[in-house]
Amino acid sequence: MIIHASCFTLRPWRRGDEAALVKHADNRRIWRNLRSNFPHPYTREDAENWIAECLESKGRALRLAIVVGNEPVGAVGVEFGGGNGRSGGEIGYWLGEELWGRGIATEAVGLAAAYAMDELGIERLEAAVLQSNTASIRVLEKNGFTAFARLRKGAGRPGKSAIEIHYVKER
Ligand SMILES: CC(C)(COP(=O)(O)OP(=O)(O)OC[C@H]1O[C@@H](n2cnc3c(N)ncnc32)[C@H](O)[C@@H]1OP(=O)(O)O)[C@@H](O)C(=O)NCCC(=O)NCCS
Repeated sequence: MIIHASCFTLRPWRRGDEAALVKHADNRRIWRNLRSNFPHPYTREDAENWIAECLESKGRALRLAIVVGNEPVGAVGVEFGGGNGRSGGEIGYWLGEELWGRGIATEAVGLAAAYAMDELGIERLEAAVLQSNTASIRVLEKNGFTAFARLRKGAGRPGKSAIEIHYVKER
């Protein structure tokens, strides 16, 4: 499966992506905005584990690499589950810092959300974002997500508090 966008493609992670994954994911400015299971430093072993998990995740998740040229430079994915009585999923994403500010994440999230809802039957997509993460909030709002909860200490790094905003988009 492959989704073509204006200047990138979305496709499943595969073996051979490890070096590019480490190159782009090993970044404190990415790590600090993601859930605590995202490693830092991001090692070759982390990349191997991620790709092995992706290859086994069919039916539980949609996990796509954002590919520019031939290089995976980021990720967008939906973990299936939840949904408050509907078929649900949680969307997450990150992009290599050298590519920030070009509209790539906005378009990638829009395409992945549309694929999950139109092709996979997901009816309710959620996302959790730190209040300080202005860029990610814009990505969600430009894709029609609406804030529905504001939680203290939602996703703070160990020992730190943070405000987390939860967004939803329904079919
Ligand atoms: C969040 C992230 C994916 C955005 O990627 P991106 O491709 O640069 O985003 P876009 O270019 O589509 O821009 C989205 C919006 O954010 C704005 N933006 C981009 N960088 C910004 C920054 N550093 N500060 C404030 N706003 C910013 C853009 O201007 C745009 O808003 P606009 O349309 O109102 O101008 C990227 O910054 C990232 O990977 N961050 C670390 C991981 C992360 O936060 N993931 C999401 C967890 S919820």
